[in-house]
Amino acid sequence: MFSLKGKSAIITGGGSGIGKAISVLFAAQGAHVHIVELNSESGEIVAGEIRSNGGQASVHSCDVSDQQKVVALFKGIEKIDILVNNAGIAHVGKADTTSAEDFERVYNVNVKGAYNCLFAAIPIMKSLGGGAIVNLASIAAIVGLSDRFAYSMSKGAIYAMTLSVAKDYLGHNIRCNSISPARVHTPFVDGFIAKNYPGKEDEMFDKLSKSQPIGRMAKPDEVASMALYLCSDEASFLTGCDYPVDGGFIKLNT
Ligand SMILES: NC(=O)c1ccc[n+]([C@@H]2O[C@H](COP(=O)([O-])OP(=O)(O)OC[C@H]3O[C@@H](n4cnc5c(N)ncnc54)[C@H](O)[C@@H]3O)[C@@H](O)[C@H]2O)c1
Repeated sequence: MFSLKGKSAIITGGGSGIGKAISVLFAAQGAHVHIVELNSESGEIVAGEIRSNGGQASVHSCDVSDQQKVVALFKGIEKIDILVNNAGIAHVGKADTTSAEDFERVYNVNVKGAYNCLFAAIPIMKSLGGGAIVNLASIAAIVGLSDRFAYSMSKGAIYAMTLSVAKDYLGHNIRCNSISPARVHTPFVDGFIAKNYPGKEDEMFDKLSKSQPIGRMAKPDEVASMALYLCSDEASFLTGCDYPVDGGFIKLNT
């Protein structure tokens, strides 16, 4: 079950955290993984790990917010069975403390970046007779989180784009779903704690861990398993849905 043998999968932001776990798992399941990374050095480290375990991986240095580059890159890859829109950046702030520059920066990567990859991948999937798309949303798309104005905006857009794409390409055998993780322990989390709560890192880590009713953050592998299922042929009846991987955050936080 859950074999991706013979499939070609694009994973944006595959050099770190959740994207890395997805890249490693998809390659172990037989996919040729294309890591699309701003930080190609980290992508190469992940690809090296995959190849040393007998898997297939290529790294493409690319900023997903640049449409021309994304289109040219995807055309060159030719065969795209799976797209995982994972690359994303964090931001802490409220509506009246988020600068226009920060708002735009988050929008350009998290929203426009995902759109660019959809724009470039869907024609190729159509020509191949179908495909599977997974977009990384967040619980921030579904519940109100403090101090996450721009980030929530971007993940709400991911949630809505998922529905739109799922509907528009039903007839093309392209399935599109999203995953909404709660806190996952990745460099993304460590980075924003260090940046936004200097001197209070341990306290914030503990607070963020306990905000999941299950009592801890998710591991990247736990999100990757959901992505594998959604991209596998076993999930052939699933489209247009969001799947929280949240340790009970949405439904059990009373
Ligand atoms: N970690 C969490 O708690 C959490 C929770 C919910 C959702 N998410 C989402 O999951 C995704 C991955 O998060 P993560 O924690 O693994 O992050 P991470 O920071 O560990 O990894 C993100 C990767 O994306 C790459 N990237 C950033 N901007 C890019 C760009 N413009 N073009 C190409 N690559 C780019 C980075 O180089 C990095 O390797 C994000 O979309 C994030 O919003 C994370």
